[in-house]
Amino acid sequence: MVTTDDLLEVLRRGSLTVEGRLVDASNATLLALAELDGVEIACVYKPTAGERPLWDFPDSTLGLREVAAYEMSAALGWGIVPPTVWRDDGPFGRGMAQAWVTPPGGGDMVPGGGLVDVVPRGHVPEGWLEVLDAHGQGGEPVTLVHADDADLRRMCVFDSVVNNADRKGGHVLHGRVLPDVEPATYGVDHGVTFSEDEKLRTVLWGWAGLPVEDETLADLERLSDDLTGELGDRLSTLLTRRELARTRQRVSRRIREAAYPLPGDGWPSLPWPAF
Ligand SMILES: Nc1ncnc2c1ncn2[C@@H]1O[C@H](COP(=O)(O)OP(=O)(O)O)[C@@H](O)[C@H]1O
Ligand SMILES: [Mg+2]
Repeated sequence: MVTTDDLLEVLRRGSLTVEGRLVDASNATLLALAELDGVEIACVYKPTAGERPLWDFPDSTLGLREVAAYEMSAALGWGIVPPTVWRDDGPFGRGMAQAWVTPPGGGDMVPGGGLVDVVPRGHVPEGWLEVLDAHGQGGEPVTLVHADDADLRRMCVFDSVVNNADRKGGHVLHGRVLPDVEPATYGVDHGVTFSEDEKLRTVLWGWAGLPVEDETLADLERLSDDLTGELGDRLSTLLTRRELARTRQRVSRRIREAAYPLPGDGWPSLPWPAF
């Protein structure tokens, strides 16, 4: 049986072969196979050289931020980010490699993982939360909604501490990274995270201002300690000192407020299109 540690080892040390390019991606996001000692893992490989420059993030840092987001998720024990590693020696040079999430029944991934959706106005599924009324492509009234789900709740808190500027519905996936594990809810595309400035932009506003669960706060307390120790050391090779310092502040703030984040002003709080 292949474990998560094996998977990380294959991603870190395996030979990488590019199989194709994801067409809906804005950067050079490649589908690749990592192979080590006969074990093959499908993965996303994003070479730094393929990163589209952004005005508000330093050039050639997006892949490092994706690895940093994985480190945070792994330290929390929340399993939000699929295993993600840094490669100095990819087929198109340095970049990040991330385990591919396969939908539970095979076939195509449902964007939103079955947990985020746009529905006709007035048709909010029972127990789901409304985020925003809008108009669809044909002008029809629609509502952006998401499930009231424990994994999504943690993802919302996670995004607030990593300062995720791009939690679209399409960046929420449900599936498995290994054949023998249970399907889980994952978040992908964490290139625009850890800015020094407040940039939280997400579709997950259904709990804005509500109290955060005690268990989640306890995990954040542990994260806060980890950030001054080994996790902090690892992140210091991926982020600047100021970005790391701001990350500690965001974690402390979430613990202090003990509430889900509220949209700030001066920065668009919803990614649009929402998928
Ligand atoms: N680890 C993954 N497993 C499965 N699908 C993924 C994974 N990462 C990305 N994708 C899919 O590929 C699309 C493009 O990847 P993304 O990381 O969003 O690239 P970009 O930075 O170019 O927007 C995503 O919206 C998602 O549908
Ligand atoms: Mg994307």
